[in-house]
Amino acid sequence: MLYSEKVMDHFKNPRNVGKMDDADGVGEVGNAKCGDIMKIYLKIEDGIIVDAKFNTFGCGSAIATSSMATEMIKGKKVEEALELTNKAVVEALDGLPPAKIHCSVLAEEAVKAAIKNYYDKNGIEYDKKMFCDGDCCHCHAHDDEE
Ligand code: FES
Repeated sequence: MLYSEKVMDHFKNPRNVGKMDDADGVGEVGNAKCGDIMKIYLKIEDGIIVDAKFNTFGCGSAIATSSMATEMIKGKKVEEALELTNKAVVEALDGLPPAKIHCSVLAEEAVKAAIKNYYDKNGIEYDKKMFCDGDCCHCHAHDDEE
């Protein structure tokens, strides 16, 4: 079978779908390869991600990876969530077909963009190198920067 049971499960019953009106950080990224878009909302209390939601106009693999990624970062410290890689998400889903790996990058980038938004909003200092500078990905995290 092309997709693991876990991928099918998260695709059919995605966790944490929706929007958050009082989010502490919001990240939106686009996938240059297919044009799909993902938005992630985070609720952060005392440096801990207490809730996460996502919305995506994306393929099934993008839905499954965002569902899994939001599950994985809930309850984690912000710094720990920053270390979440698309590889770890793919592993947690028992793999994705090679042609679909790029879809999982969307989830990782959206989480990072949402955390960056949280840092920026709260005036928290961070190492800019932790986030892409616009060359490494095609996310919209930089759209409102001069
Ligand atoms: Fe666009 Fe999967 S094909 S995110």
